[in-house]
Amino acid sequence: MDTSRHISVAIDGPSGAGKSTLSRVAATELGFVYVDTGAIYRTVAFHTLRRGVDPQDASAVERLLPEIRIAMEYDGEGLQRMYLNGEDLTDLIRTQEISMAASKVSVHPAVRSFLLNMQREMAEKYSVIMDGRDIGTVVLPDADVKIFLTASSEARARRRWRDLQERGTAKDFQQLLQETRERDEADMNRAAAPLRPAEDAVLLDTTELTFEESGRRILEIIRERTGA
Ligand code: DC
Repeated sequence: MDTSRHISVAIDGPSGAGKSTLSRVAATELGFVYVDTGAIYRTVAFHTLRRGVDPQDASAVERLLPEIRIAMEYDGEGLQRMYLNGEDLTDLIRTQEISMAASKVSVHPAVRSFLLNMQREMAEKYSVIMDGRDIGTVVLPDADVKIFLTASSEARARRRWRDLQERGTAKDFQQLLQETRERDEADMNRAAAPLRPAEDAVLLDTTELTFEESGRRILEIIRERTGA
């Protein structure tokens, strides 16, 4: 392995597979920067809704892009804060409404290419664990390690249900399951950079694994391949 450059780890997979928490924990353990690319799409989605634009309207969304300046900052725990034109949106982009809108704006090739360089620049500057849908296939095709993290749609909806329950914002399980499937369907079947494992990705199915087991396995995969 070429040690003169930074290490990059791509973690892709459907929503709710635990990518973001597992990636952040692994990045902290390894001293890498964790880059949550879904948050970048969410930021674009937030601006789109705020401007009253339909996230499915490709040309209207494209017209908004020149108004969008996105910045990312990291706090002491490696948490990524998202700024849109200087405004901190970190907590505002976590709603279900923004999840669905992010899935819709991410379909447009103009949005994807607008965000591509900013993601690649992070991997040029730092050793990263970057999570998303197309990191191993499009954003970082030469990543040192590629992991495709999945779990059954039931397991993912159940985890989300538990999360919401703990936060005191309970939601109907069947509805969550349906939303999980809708988003999978949209992310996997879009023409531009659909969700799919890179040919050289390691598949990791966490349906039957605890969070700790999944985290250990991810670290093992990264360490075996990079010596990190
Ligand atoms: O990972 P997330 O749930 O925060 O992502 C929100 C949406 O953004 C997801 O439905 C699809 C899109 N996305 C994408 O198209 N490509 C990425 N690399 C990350 C997210």
